[in-house]
This record gives sequence, C-alpha cells and structure tokens, in this order.
Amino acid sequence: MTMQPSNSVIYLKDYLAPAFWVEQVELCFDLSANQTRVHSKISFKRNPEREVDLPLELHGSDLKLISLNIDGGTLNDNEYLISDELLVIPKVPDEFVLEAEVEIDPANNTSLEGLYRSNTMFCTQCEAEGFRKITYYPDRPDVMAAFTTKVIADKDEYPVLLSNGNPIERGELDNNRHFVTWLDPFRKPAYLFALVAGDLQVVKDSFTTMTGREVALEIWVEPENITKCDHAMGSLKAAMKWDEEVYGREYDLDIYMIVAVNDFNMGAMENKGLNIFNSSCVLARPDTATDGAFQRIEAVVAHEYFHNWSGNRVTCRDWFQLSLKEGFTVFRDQSFSADLNDAAVKRIEDVAMLRTAQFAEDAGPTAHPVRPDHFIEISNFYTLTIYEKGAEIVRMIANLLGPDLFRKGSDLYFERHDGQAVTVEDFVAAMADVSGIDFSQFMRWYSQAGTPELSVSDAYDSDSQQYRLTIKQSTPATKGQEEKLPLHIPVKVGLLDAQGSDLPLILSEGEASGEQGDNSRVLHLRAAEQTFVFDQITNAPVPSLLRGFSAPVKLDFAYSQEQLLHLMRHDSDGFNRWDAGQRLALDALKAMICQFEAGHVPELGSTLVEAYRSLFNAQLSPAILAAMLALPSEAYIGEQYAVVPVDAIHACRKLARKTLAKALEAELRQCLTENQLPGDYRPTAKDIGKRCLKNTCLSYLMVLEHSDIVASCWQQFERSDNMTDVQAALVQLVHSNQDDKAKAALDKFEQEWQQDALVMDQWFQVQASRPHPDALARVKALMEHNAFSLKNPNKVRSLIGVYCNQNRVNFHSLDGHSYRFLADVVLELDRMNPQIASRLITPLTRWQKFDEQRQQLMQAELKRIAEADLSKDLFEVVSKALP
Ligand code: TRP
Ligand code: ZN
Repeated sequence: MTMQPSNSVIYLKDYLAPAFWVEQVELCFDLSANQTRVHSKISFKRNPEREVDLPLELHGSDLKLISLNIDGGTLNDNEYLISDELLVIPKVPDEFVLEAEVEIDPANNTSLEGLYRSNTMFCTQCEAEGFRKITYYPDRPDVMAAFTTKVIADKDEYPVLLSNGNPIERGELDNNRHFVTWLDPFRKPAYLFALVAGDLQVVKDSFTTMTGREVALEIWVEPENITKCDHAMGSLKAAMKWDEEVYGREYDLDIYMIVAVNDFNMGAMENKGLNIFNSSCVLARPDTATDGAFQRIEAVVAHEYFHNWSGNRVTCRDWFQLSLKEGFTVFRDQSFSADLNDAAVKRIEDVAMLRTAQFAEDAGPTAHPVRPDHFIEISNFYTLTIYEKGAEIVRMIANLLGPDLFRKGSDLYFERHDGQAVTVEDFVAAMADVSGIDFSQFMRWYSQAGTPELSVSDAYDSDSQQYRLTIKQSTPATKGQEEKLPLHIPVKVGLLDAQGSDLPLILSEGEASGEQGDNSRVLHLRAAEQTFVFDQITNAPVPSLLRGFSAPVKLDFAYSQEQLLHLMRHDSDGFNRWDAGQRLALDALKAMICQFEAGHVPELGSTLVEAYRSLFNAQLSPAILAAMLALPSEAYIGEQYAVVPVDAIHACRKLARKTLAKALEAELRQCLTENQLPGDYRPTAKDIGKRCLKNTCLSYLMVLEHSDIVASCWQQFERSDNMTDVQAALVQLVHSNQDDKAKAALDKFEQEWQQDALVMDQWFQVQASRPHPDALARVKALMEHNAFSLKNPNKVRSLIGVYCNQNRVNFHSLDGHSYRFLADVVLELDRMNPQIASRLITPLTRWQKFDEQRQQLMQAELKRIAEADLSKDLFEVVSKALP
C-alpha cells in the first residue's frame, strides 16, 4: 500500500486515472472557530479502467476523524489506515457510499488554505490541494462530482452563508443557529469548492445573457467596504459581455457571487459561482485606489470570470496541466484588457513584466517548463512561467491560426471537452484540427524550460536587390534540462525604407505566413539557423524584428543608434517603436555603467536626450508618451548582465534621469501643465494615460528639487481627490531628499488612512521602496507598526516583498544584513504560511546573478534555512536554489 512519504517527487509520467470516481457529494458544515464539524457523504464507483481490488485512497491532512462508515456500517480501527496525508481503506465494494465526520480548527489555520478565518468571517481556498484540509476526499482535478453543501452557523455572527451553485433550502435551528443548503449542479473537482460565512453586506446587480437568461450578480464584502464595489461590478458585466461576443461563451448558473477577503494568498480564486477575492483585487474607490489598482481589478475580475469556461467547464486532468487553464485564461484576460483600453500600452506593460520577472525565473534555479514534468509541492508552480509564458504560447497559437480559426479552435475545444478534465494535448489538438497546422515541433514550447535566444544578422545585396535575414536560435541549459532542441518560433518582421515606410515583403526563401507583398510577415523559424530572403528591395532597409513581441524570446541584432532612432520615430508597429526606445536607452545606460565601473564619472550621451526631446512633438497618445519616457527599470537593466552591477545600475539610472530632467525641463513642465485633469476622476484609458504622463513628468522634475516643483508636488499630495495623484506625489516626496516633507506627508497619510488596510498597504510600499540607506532599519521598525501583521500576505508583500524586490541597492547591501533579515522572516513565516514563505524567498535564490561576495552571503542564508525543519513548499525551493 502506498503511503506517500513527505517531500517525495510526483512525476507526470506516473499519472494514472483514479481507482474510484465520485458521483455525488453531500457536505454539511457546522461552523465554529476552533471546532468545525464537517460531515461528508460521498458516493464512489470503481473505475473499470483500473485494476480490480485497488484500495480506496483519500487525501486528508490536519483532520481529526470522528466517525467513518461505509453503506451505513461503521468501520473498525483495523479496517482503515491513516497517515499524515492519506486515509486508506483496503477493502471496499465496487459501488458504495462513504460517510465521514471530521473536526477541523479554522481559527488556527494560518496557511490560508482549506477552511480558515479572515477577520470575523469563515472562507475557503481549495486550489490546488486545500480541500484535503477540509475532509477526506480524492483531492485531484480529474475526479469531478456534483456537490450539495449545507452550512450551519450562529445567526448573529454569521447571517450570510454561501457556497457554490444555487441556494435550495434555508431555515432556523436551535441555539440561535440557522442553515442554508446550496446545490451546484455542475460536476466539478474539489479545488473549485468554496464556502463563506460572515456578517457581510452585498451589492446586487444583474446580467442578461445572450440567450436572455437573467443572472443575479452579487459582491459580498464587510460593511465598511460597501462603497468600494462599483468598479468590480462594472468590470464583471463587461467581462460577461466580452466573453459572449469574442468567445461565444455564456454564463451557466443563475447566480454569480464574488466575496472580498483580507487574508488571501493570491489574487483571487475562480470557485464555481462563488469567486473569492483578495480584497486588493476587488475593492476600489477613486480616493482609495490608484489607476493601477483599478486596472488590476478589471483584469482579475475578468480572469476569474473567464475561468468559468477555461478552467471550470473544461478543467485540468492533473496539476501538470495547470497552464492549460492559467495560460489560456491569462491570454483571455490580456485580450479583454487590450480591447477595453489601449492595446499597445497593454502589450508594452505585459511584455515589460514578462521580460523582467519571467525571464529571470526562466534563467534561475527554479526554472521549469510551462508544463512541468515533476514537482514536490504544486503550490510552488503558480508561477510567471505557468501564467505569463503560458499565455504567450496561447498567443503564438492564436497568431498562427488568425482570429477566425482561433475562434473555431476554441469553440471546438469547449464543445469537445465540456465537463471533462483534459490535457494540453487536447487543447492543441483542437487548434490543429480546425487549422490543419502541424504543432508537433511547437509542442516543445510546453516541455522546454529557459528563454530562447535569437541572434539575427542581415545582408543587403544591391545587385540582386535581395535582403537576407539569418536567424540563429538557442536555448540555454536550465537546471535538470541540459539539452535543448530548436523550437518553432514565429518571428513577425517588417522592413522600413529610408522614409520610415513599410516595404512590401516578397519572400523568395524561407517559410512565412501572410501574403506576398504584405507589410508584415511572420517568419517560421524552425531550425537552429535559417535564412530568409526578401526580393525587390531597392535600398538597404531597417528591419523591425519581433513585432508585437510575437514570441517570448530574447532577440539580439546589432542595431546602430541611427537605426533605433529610425524605428522609434517611424515603425508602424507601436510595440516595436517603444522597444526601439528601450534598446536605445539600454545602450546609453550600459555605456554609463561601463564608465562608472571604470571609476569615471558617467555621462549620458546626447542621443538619448535628443531622442526623448523629439517624443514631445511626435503626436503620441499620453499613455504611449509616458511609456516611452520611462527608462528601463533597474530589474530589467540587471537582466542584461551575467553579473548584475547593482550599485552602478542604481547610480547611473539616477544620474540619467537627472540629466534628462535638466535638459528637458521646459518640455516636462509644459507637458505637466497640459495634462492636468480637471473634473471628476474616471478610470478610463484616456484619463489614466494622462495621469500617468503627468506623474511621469512630475517624477522627472522632482529630481531637480526646485522649490516650486516641490511645492506643487506637495499641493498635489494635499489636494487631489484621487489616490493615483496622491500616491504619485507621496512617492516623490518620500523618495526625495526633502526629509521634513517626506515625514510630514507620511504622517498625514497615516492619520487619514490608518483604518483602511488597503491604503495602508500603499503606505508600507512607499517606505519599503525608499532608496535611502536607512531603509532596512525602517522596514524593521514598520514591522512593529500596529497596521502590520506577518499573518496577512498583503502586508508581507507590501513591506518585505517590496523591500527585497524593488529596493535593490539596499537589499543587496554588502553588509549582508538584508539577506539575513529575509532569511529570518522566511523561517518565521514558514511555520504560519508555507505558500507565502516560499514565494518571499525568491530574491535569495537568484544568487548566481551576483558577484562572489554577495553569492557567499546569499548562499550562507540559504544554507541556514535548509538546516531548519521546513514545509514542503520551502524545502523544494531552497533545495533547488542551493549550489
Ligand atoms: N486559480 C487562481 C487564479 O485565478 C489561483 C489561486 C488563487 C491559487 N488562490 C490560490 C493558487 C491559492 C494556489 C493557492 O489564478
Ligand atoms: Zn487563473
């Protein structure tokens, strides 16, 4: 009998269908903070495709078993076995009903997985493997069942009792208790189960579906948050409409509920009919939330809604297939946000994040394929690779098919697999079946970790009027995966003439999609090296490569400054116009870093200054102008180096900003004045773009610390009615050298918002990212603040996460104090919340990117952590990260 030892590795190749299917589940919860009783009645049926006589194995952890019976007959102690993780019943009939009663302790469940308390409410988080902390069950996504859930609780403390599906019965019980029974008619895996109980208030609305059905929409929150639900409700209705129009997907239940909770490990969870959200991803009011928060809420509400089809109606066979639902759903939410806002800006933001954070993950010790082939703890695989790189793979498929065929493919996928738990192959097969495209080489995107590197060279021959592009691809080795094979990479290109117009592309050699003569063609790179030849090119062109970021790769081409300036001014592809500017800025910054490292005073050359100056007259939308004026982040600059010159990057970027601010002061001042927004706050793409541009100008000008700018920054902080402008001004004041103003602003902000947890998160973030040398001391002091708690993931992320990831000069200080600090926090946190501990450790796992001295210090802390008794989560990450 298999009793799985802890920290054992689970392999995709070992997948076996379950020995038993579940037909029906009836649950009854009798809620109390420390002793909740969960009664379950589960009808099992042996899977005829597995061996006869297999035992029944149910997952379960931290459960106290009260009673157990099969078909009404109580089981003796010798008829079952219990370990930390499993309940095994060796002899069971082919078909039977199992009844169990267990006791659990939600109040002491600090892992925020299973049933737990957040403030005064009860809530659940079951993905990926949290249901096993609620009761004994085959907690795997390929076991799908219809759930009936009865929730019993005290009437005064918990007037609201919610679960998946529709309420079918409610009533009063003795001892001031009441109950509600919910029925979810859609078969689902246990990870989509949800329960909420509390003293909550609701905002109600409704949506009429494409076939005319009326769906009740409800957002449930703690009473003080009732004024913060409008934006989420608007986003939900927009998402429902968009999914009908763009994917033909209609909602299926009569009710759709969202609940906001303060203590939540991730952003939100798509439980069937009852989404549970981190309050940071649902609650917003103009005076409390920034534009960034408004946009994130729109995206996350849509993401969870879209899961109803890509995740719930069609789910994953096993957790190795996680990207099947997450990559696809991220692609869907990105497309939704692009349609509702400025598509080019959205693409720029998504790629900037992918290229900094996901590329770093893909180059680090926890690099893994979009479909991993093994894991110790699945919670460690809710990563940027699964989500964002997974979305890039779906985007490449969508681009290979074109919009009409992609829609046909997704229709086929949903129709063919409705109600099933499927694999990545099933998704790709649907796309192949409608298009006839051969995806066999493309499938390597799912199995190969690491970011492919393209190196491109060109040659122009005026005699033959031919232009040749030669592209080489290679993928660096990653931990546990030394050999890499060539991928099928779609490289979208254009060629610009001297006037900046796109040349018609006539390909005489090499595979490409699109028509001869198109302005953009997608080259199909399949081999390690391949040449593409364009005919009838009368002058040497400037190549615009990887338009729209058509594949998640690093692309190297020896662009001259003139070529980059040309692309920056003229490229018909908005993304590549921005990217040309980023390349130009990177070149300038790298040159400064070189000077700095050689002991010289670095200087920013005039090319970048003049390029930026010309942007102000380039008829760009405010949002694009803001994006183009922003220098690459310290993190992205660091990505360009094998050994990150932390201090040089910080100093040179700061100096470059100062040079730009001085040289462009007039333009910045004018732009700042022209983009003021009188009138009511609206989180529309247009207004968000203007605010972003205005605050970008302000941040440059604040570098100069002229008294009139400092004064108007203070005014913006004091008088704005919206948090976007207040927060932008606060950051500038706190990150400036005006210590008295910084302190005054922080005090005022704290006074005003100390009761609002989400606003206080911003207060922590602003201080955690402050580049001044006393930052660590301040972070430590803030951990004692009464608004801080190590038990609340939002607080941990805002203070410690922001410090360790965004305050690079301080975190990487050569005294090693910050490394030690992070290790201490992680060790303490691991005993409460392993999922958060193993995420928080990330910056310490990236030691390979730093110099010898820092490597030693970081490794020493990792070793110290490894010696402790660790959760599976932290154990897996630390053991991968150790040298
Ligand atoms: N499926 C969730 C999403 O939409 C992810 C998620 C939410 C999650 N909470 C979690 C994953 C807790 C693991 C643990 O992306
Ligand atoms: Zn998701």
